[in-house]
Amino acid sequence: MRVLVLNGPNLNLLGSREPEVYGRETLADIEVLVRNRAQALGIEVAFAQSNHEGDLVDVIQAHRGWDGLILNAGAYTHTSQAIPDAISATQLLTVEVHLSNVFRREAFRHHSTISPVAWGCIVGFGFRGYLAALDLLHGRLTEGTVG
Ligand code: DQA
Repeated sequence: MRVLVLNGPNLNLLGSREPEVYGRETLADIEVLVRNRAQALGIEVAFAQSNHEGDLVDVIQAHRGWDGLILNAGAYTHTSQAIPDAISATQLLTVEVHLSNVFRREAFRHHSTISPVAWGCIVGFGFRGYLAALDLLHGRLTEGTVG
């Protein structure tokens, strides 16, 4: 089972970026936590981060045929058409993750172009959202169920 964990713009600054909103963990800390959980679950994970929309599309395309995608597209969540198109094109089973509870924040963060093509969305649980996404993908992929 192979899962791509993909992070978008400004998430490379986690740890120092508005820690009261996004938490004190760096992206490297989150990667270690996810890799440990993945190892326990027998999942192969790849990590990528980019501040550029086209790069995110390239990485999604390069992982066509993988079993799952955990995606925090950062601010592109609210604007991108190309990223959801890439998900539709590759048919990657996607869990959308946001560290902060976007629904408690500015109105522009309430809309996601990714949610309509995602299996589901986890918001507001900080780094734990990535771990939950991994557990959910593992459950669905091992059970072979759809819902
Ligand atoms: C975010 C929420 C987005 O609105 C914001 O632009 C981000 C991070 C989150 O993880 O809470 O960069 O995706």
